[in-house]
Amino acid sequence: MSYYQHHVFFCLNERKNGEAACAQHDAQAAFDHCKARVKAEGLAGPGGVRINKAGCLDRCAGGPVAVVYPEETWYTFVDQHDLDEIVEEHLKNGRVVQRLVLPPTVGR
Ligand code: FES
Repeated sequence: MSYYQHHVFFCLNERKNGEAACAQHDAQAAFDHCKARVKAEGLAGPGGVRINKAGCLDRCAGGPVAVVYPEETWYTFVDQHDLDEIVEEHLKNGRVVQRLVLPPTVGR
């Protein structure tokens, strides 16, 4: 059994050189919102959900990105509605939100 049922990593990387980076897409606000929602839903903690910050996950062209383990489901999102759907459908009910899945060919 896994320590966390779902372990989520949000890329918060920023770059000063103008190259694509998730921080340009309000990744910090998305992270904060998702963490708060998970806590409010009572999902946070061992046996539940953990939301963590990450540096570059090397899929910058699809930013902002987050990845959910152990399923290794990669998501991209545009607003809080998308994040709420990931929390409700995936993290709470175990159903992947297909419309937000990052295409497998998206890289840096
Ligand atoms: S900057 Fe976010 S994946 Fe690279």
